[in-house]
Amino acid sequence: MDRFVKNFIFMSIVYLVLASFLGVAMLLDSDMLAWKFVHSHLMLLGWVSMMIYGVGYHILPRFAGRLLKSKAMAEVQFWLANAGLTGMLLFYMLDRYHPETAAYKSLSGLFGGLEVVSIALFFYNLVATVYSKGEGE
Ligand code: HEM
Repeated sequence: MDRFVKNFIFMSIVYLVLASFLGVAMLLDSDMLAWKFVHSHLMLLGWVSMMIYGVGYHILPRFAGRLLKSKAMAEVQFWLANAGLTGMLLFYMLDRYHPETAAYKSLSGLFGGLEVVSIALFFYNLVATVYSKGEGE
């Protein structure tokens, strides 16, 4: 199993654990509902998406009878997806508690953009793998 596959699966479970605690905190204390954006995105971009990235990179090339187009790109995608998610959530909450600092909103958007780039890399790498005629990297 490739290192980025293991890393995606490991981080997806880390995000599940964190988001679950946050979910229980929101049930117990309605003030914690301010963290709903963090909970939902840790669950969906963390737990759900990263499990799909990891399992997808491992299984889809095998289903297609191909080698993954670029392992280096998948490695880069791992770091971009994690930096994008954590940066977006960190600066989102900083903006929520300190709206007077304009930079937080822009930084949240910037890291959200990194997340989009990582999604585009996943899309390209898998499409180029599944539809390729050759063997890949
Ligand atoms: C330990 C399990 C979980 C707990 C305790 C929990 C708890 C909560 C709570 C209390 C809210 C806020 C509800 C409100 O607005 O009053 C919420 C929202 C949300 N949760 Fe969870 N949750 C859990 C698992 C999940 C999972 C597995 C996902 C998705 C994979 C998820 C996705 C969401 C989303 C998208 C929202 C936002 C919904 C909205 O905007 O109204 N949650 N959750």
